[in-house]
Amino acid sequence: LAISCQKNKNSILKALLKHQIDLVIIGPEQALADGLGDFLRKNHIKVFGPSAKAASLEASKIFAKKFMEKHHIPTASYQALQSTEQTLKAAVHFSPPYVLKADGLAGGKGVFICKTKKELREKAIAIFDRHVLGAAGQKALLEEFKQGKEISVFVITNGKSYQVLPIAKDYKKLYDGGLGPNTGGMGAHAPISLSKKLMCKIENKILYPTMQGLKREGISYLGVLYIGLIVSPGDNPQVLEYNIRFGDPEAQVLLPLLKGSWLDIFYKLASGKPFAPLEWKKKHTVCVVLANQGYPDKKIKSKRIQGDIHFENARAYFLKGGVICQKNIWRAQGGRVLNAIGMGSSHRAAIQAAYEQVQRVSWRGMHYRKDIGT
Ligand code: GLY
Repeated sequence: LAISCQKNKNSILKALLKHQIDLVIIGPEQALADGLGDFLRKNHIKVFGPSAKAASLEASKIFAKKFMEKHHIPTASYQALQSTEQTLKAAVHFSPPYVLKADGLAGGKGVFICKTKKELREKAIAIFDRHVLGAAGQKALLEEFKQGKEISVFVITNGKSYQVLPIAKDYKKLYDGGLGPNTGGMGAHAPISLSKKLMCKIENKILYPTMQGLKREGISYLGVLYIGLIVSPGDNPQVLEYNIRFGDPEAQVLLPLLKGSWLDIFYKLASGKPFAPLEWKKKHTVCVVLANQGYPDKKIKSKRIQGDIHFENARAYFLKGGVICQKNIWRAQGGRVLNAIGMGSSHRAAIQAAYEQVQRVSWRGMHYRKDIGT
């Protein structure tokens, strides 16, 4: 509903009132950045999802950098840009690989890691002169490249207190071994175990200052905040990005780990009530994304899916993304088509369950990474 009516808040409100909906959980970042949460709250609808102002943490990478600078939150150094010429001038202050990021929301397609100045120039031209990212690329930033281990940290908060979810890892590159273009995410697993010392650093240097910073700036945050971190050698965590929503595919591995009901938690938060400490199952989860040929850059051709898309047992199931069903025939229609989810009492068992699930379907051009969880 929120996606199809994004531009028409009144029709969303009308539908919510008509169907007596008690709670709205806003998933997509664009709807949050467009102020759907603020609008519905003003109309006395309970919403789990941050305000448009808070959404700037994801909707403007430059806003996020300024926020981090102001609140002394560790992140890579950067320079804001508005043209190809500025990009090339700024490049002399950075060493390759060059990280060029569109300022606005680009559906996971706004980050370019350029090995050479030539490549950087091409990407800057694409953003600023050919406008391939539209308004998302009106501004951009050049960022210092950081080496290290990437992890995804999520907190849920009512603006007063927050709780940290199990740590997850997302696999952003298309091919095994972290090769190929960036994607929205080709797989994930959770929980990742971190040393106590590193977790303390994450809390003290990143999570607490972020939540305090929001409070100090009078930005109310009710929802989930996703902090993409890079842990550099020497266990130095730094923020790569803020997202104002659950991650995809991290949500697929985190949501099943809760003991209890997400609905209760979301409802309590949206009602402004305190929420009890979250408890987690002693389980491991793995998600393997089954993508279509052409993803993420090329045109996708619809293909018929063979096998049992409905198969599930206690250890594994599919979540459906880019599929359609016509006359009982399922077709792979989008880029990221299915998620094979595996659960187990050990990380290894969860990997095995997920990859066994993968074998239950196929189509021409199906692509997935073979190294999720390793
Ligand atoms: N997993 C990356 C994202 O959801 O943006």
